[in-house]
Amino acid sequence: LDPQTADTLPGVPVADISATGPGDTPVQQAMQLMREHGPVFVRRLYGRDALFVGDPDLVAELADERRFAKHVGPGLENVREFAADGLFTAYNDEPNWAKAHDILMPAFALGSMRTYHPVMLKVARRLIDSWDRDARAGRPVNVPDDMTRMTLDTIGLAGFDYDFGSFERPEPHPFVESMVRCLEWSMKRLARVPGRDYSAADAAFRDDAAYLAQVVDDVIAARTGTDQSAAEDLLGLMLTAAHPADGTTLDTANIRNQVITFLIAGHETTSGAMSFALYYLAKHPTALDRVRREVDDLWGDQADPEPTYDEIGRLTYTRQVLNEALRLWPTAAVFSREAREDTLLGGRIPLRAGQAALVLTPMLHRQPVWGDNPELFDPARFTAEAEQARPVHAFKPFGTGERACIGRQFALHEATMLLAMLVHRYRLHDHADYRLTVKETLTLKPEGFTLTLTPRTTAE
Ligand code: HEM
Repeated sequence: LDPQTADTLPGVPVADISATGPGDTPVQQAMQLMREHGPVFVRRLYGRDALFVGDPDLVAELADERRFAKHVGPGLENVREFAADGLFTAYNDEPNWAKAHDILMPAFALGSMRTYHPVMLKVARRLIDSWDRDARAGRPVNVPDDMTRMTLDTIGLAGFDYDFGSFERPEPHPFVESMVRCLEWSMKRLARVPGRDYSAADAAFRDDAAYLAQVVDDVIAARTGTDQSAAEDLLGLMLTAAHPADGTTLDTANIRNQVITFLIAGHETTSGAMSFALYYLAKHPTALDRVRREVDDLWGDQADPEPTYDEIGRLTYTRQVLNEALRLWPTAAVFSREAREDTLLGGRIPLRAGQAALVLTPMLHRQPVWGDNPELFDPARFTAEAEQARPVHAFKPFGTGERACIGRQFALHEATMLLAMLVHRYRLHDHADYRLTVKETLTLKPEGFTLTLTPRTTAE
């Protein structure tokens, strides 16, 4: 939207936040504004306008691929500074988007998850070994930190056969620290006060971005020239698979952008999703109990079950828990759509071709279609019958259309298996009576969430 447009959007309230700025929690601020102003409003910051939408009917229109497409807005433009034309941040018409999408799609089809299953299991066991040590020592575990260790190692190994060895480090891998700072820079850059000097922040960002690129070059170098270069993981496909249409492979610069993209997109959001799910389980004994019954039905009192690929598909209730956590805190909380042609959104909001609307997913997920107590954590919202009774576009944690999340099945398989294994093995103690604080670094996480653990006994 250009600055003048908002005043001409009939009936759409304008919330000017220039006095305070968006602060450290822009998503939660936008949620609050939507509570005050209703499910469509314009947020104005220093004369720049953004149209936020949470209304399910309007989101259904925005999901119509004939009228709207993904918009690479200011937030993603900032991420482009370090991920360039990787899949997540590519423009719709950038040739490398379609090319990489076509080459990599087969690696994410549901059937391919069977290939990743053993690696996911191996890394889940690393987490369990680490949590066993913490449990024995009576030490609390930092849930989001350990989930991040686990998801980074998983995407590193499953995608690129590269081992970040995160559980052998007392601090997060430096890649994670640089990446989080890059994401923070992207988020905070949106809130810059005109006229202020940000050169120090920009210089620090460039150092971090250079470090990410260097790690990725190491990941690629570890593979090229070896007889493993044709392995059928993501990197193998990127290095060797030819596009069906023209027979060419991805170029080196694009491969680097894709690897950065997958390392980031492949772990940050999944780690947050598992952390929120554990948070809700720790606070909801009835739901925890049902997950327990589900996993006990599968694995009984085996000390170290060997979950199979097919068993993960049978963990229906565990999956419902994950979906419900993603409803309340979809960890990639905003996606942006642009009009293909001049159009009227909802028959009343005029948008010109190229103009954007931001879908504020956490608020879409709290609209009246979710019943009269949307804040309540209730996995029963995701039984097959309940899902069928709801409009399809009411739940959008993975975005929409052809630019929706390519890694959805990957994330769901990894997260469902880990949650099930943890609930099977431990009793979770909310020892600190944790009060939820959601930290934002473009993605969302429950900040400082810790648990203590005791092994479950068969007598339980
Ligand atoms: C795209 C969410 C896990 C890779 C997206 C989008 C969302 C999303 C909302 C669309 C963004 C937009 O429209 O601008 C999530 C969530 C995850 C998750 C909530 C976990 C719970 C993953 C994983 C991977 C991945 C595990 C890789 C292994 C990608 C990529 C795209 C994407 C490459 C860009 C696709 C394209 O535009 O072609 N994700 N994601 N994501 N995601 Fe995920």
